[in-house]
Amino acid sequence: MKKYILDLVVTENTRLHDRCVLLKLICKEPLPLMLPGQFAELRVDNSPTTFLRRPISIHYVDRKKNEIWFLIQLVGDGTKKLATLKPGDSLNVILPLGNGFTILPNVKEEVPLLVGGGVGIAPLLMLGQEIVCQGGKPTFLLGARTLKDLFEMEQFMSLGELYITTEDGSYGEKGFATQHTILKQKRFSMIYSCGPRPMMVAVARYAKENGIECEVSLENKMACGLGACLCCVEDTNEGNVCVCKDGPVFNIKKLLWQI
Ligand code: FES
Repeated sequence: MKKYILDLVVTENTRLHDRCVLLKLICKEPLPLMLPGQFAELRVDNSPTTFLRRPISIHYVDRKKNEIWFLIQLVGDGTKKLATLKPGDSLNVILPLGNGFTILPNVKEEVPLLVGGGVGIAPLLMLGQEIVCQGGKPTFLLGARTLKDLFEMEQFMSLGELYITTEDGSYGEKGFATQHTILKQKRFSMIYSCGPRPMMVAVARYAKENGIECEVSLENKMACGLGACLCCVEDTNEGNVCVCKDGPVFNIKKLLWQI
């Protein structure tokens, strides 16, 4: 897919959590085609310690407003600088990068489950949006440590059924996402997941045991985002591949995870 370098303009910057902001930006030209699961490289200006762009998942695209959303977890100087952007500020991005989740042509007959944890919920909102646009009905299962680590719930609820687990039981069912009772009550035909690797491994195990197709979006550390620096390599049954270029989305059958 063609990649674009765009100067976007911030419309909103909302602090969702002490470690996460939601950035909304508009574009002067119509935003290009983007697939759920793809990501953007965001340039960080005026940060003396940040030389590389930050890879951030595309969270949502509002075509009516020509607006794109990013959920940004504050993990270092670069993302902390991005969190200081104000409405009217400009942000230079390269997008869309990587591949995307596979939405099957018969999605209307599918029973898709989207499992996310932490800021890994980001690409699942756009994926749910696309499934709905194509006539499907997504079910979301989101896991968090505690109630205060949950955000964007109303957005997910507007697209489909939403089930929650928290490790401390402060909201939804107590435990991990893969322990939720919905997994025993409903038969899913396709599973998509993004979040901490132990969660995705558990999701992959559930999918494999139940003979369900499953795609996961890997969050390996990235630098160039273009397949040049090799810092995001993942071992697969086709050899070492760059997560930024050949992923970030992989069918679990390709991965050499012990599941
Ligand atoms: Fe450089 Fe993937 S981030 S090769």
